[in-house]
Amino acid sequence: MATGYRPEIIQRAFVDFIGSRLHPFWSLTRPKLRLIARQVLNDDLVAVQFEGNHAFKRQALDSDGGWHGGQHINLTVVIDAIYHQRYYSLVGLPKQPFYLQSDIDNSENSENSENKQSQSNIVTIAIKPQGLVSNYLTQQAPLGTIFDSSLPDGDFTLAQAKLDTQGANHLSSTPSSLLFIAGGSGITPMLGLITQALSQSHTVTLLYYSRMPLAETPFLKHWQQLKDSYPNFTYHFIDTEDPDSYLVGTRHLSVESLLALNLPLENTQIFVCGSQALLAGLYDAVQTITSLDMDSLKDKCSLRDNIIFERFGNLSHELAIDDNSHNTDNAKDDIAKQTVYLRGRQRQFDTNTTLLIGAEQAGITLSYGCRQGICQLCRCNKASGVVKNIETGKISSNGYESIQTCINIAMTDVVLDI
Ligand code: FES
Repeated sequence: MATGYRPEIIQRAFVDFIGSRLHPFWSLTRPKLRLIARQVLNDDLVAVQFEGNHAFKRQALDSDGGWHGGQHINLTVVIDAIYHQRYYSLVGLPKQPFYLQSDIDNSENSENSENKQSQSNIVTIAIKPQGLVSNYLTQQAPLGTIFDSSLPDGDFTLAQAKLDTQGANHLSSTPSSLLFIAGGSGITPMLGLITQALSQSHTVTLLYYSRMPLAETPFLKHWQQLKDSYPNFTYHFIDTEDPDSYLVGTRHLSVESLLALNLPLENTQIFVCGSQALLAGLYDAVQTITSLDMDSLKDKCSLRDNIIFERFGNLSHELAIDDNSHNTDNAKDDIAKQTVYLRGRQRQFDTNTTLLIGAEQAGITLSYGCRQGICQLCRCNKASGVVKNIETGKISSNGYESIQTCINIAMTDVVLDI
């Protein structure tokens, strides 16, 4: 009787072991990328292109249509025998990859030029040449260098917008208004996201801030092609050094510039990727708009919650405050409850999580924006007590200082000037 069981006579791990001895790119299980080309996009950004090995292609490209716009990879780079890991956003989509200019390809990529013709096996990232690893990737790593890589991952995708709309499936069933805001190299994940959003018939607006002239906007040809193909796509490129490019006369993201877009903000999902200043400006602007007496904003509380932002790296604070996480509960159990006094309001509460969450659990509302340590809207003064920053692990002094309530937990009783 057939049972469906088929013993794996030769274990994949064994094949991998032998294969990797024969050639470092071969693996059935470990995703690897081989550097095949580079192209300078402007003074701030270099496109770096790879081909995936069998394991990467099988797991990241062939299954379920491949990765989603906005996702990233975690690349392992070895420099002088030291291992470094960096997250990089993927440019474009698996079926619509970003192509480098052929003339530049030919000069740098003669050995592997046949690979760029394969639509299903190109991975592109765009890097600001700054710092040890990024400088190595953009300037020094020889073509043909092989890197270990994670599979594409990350929540900065259209699916997250779906979850944020009260659990409804409205992004997949009804065209929606989507606003993408990027600054500098924050443009990188937007090409895949926007291409995907337009293919789903959503109305898309891109607001991009940089110090570059319009002609040097990354992926300019792609944006223009999208604009030609989709009448529901609008973009505004703002060169912060050129007043002619400003939106409503300002080089900054502001209340006026957001309102000038004429979007139904209360029903618009806002994806943002850029500097802390850009995020802080966005949160400030939506907070001000929310506080204005505007008839169009019937559900005023939802405006700030429409923001979805990209952030790599340390998510430890999320583990510490997510009640659904197993790690969370362990983390909380390890921390004793402390009493937090709000001097101005004459209120107090006991907590072993972040000051912001602790206050909310006690029914006390404090100011906040991103809840991730970025926007600074939760910043307040601590009069006394010791707190720990769960992003950096830094323990504060016992004295007067400015802290962010969303990423600090109390290590002793604490007095806040609130
Ligand atoms: S809420 Fe944004 S930094 Fe704390």
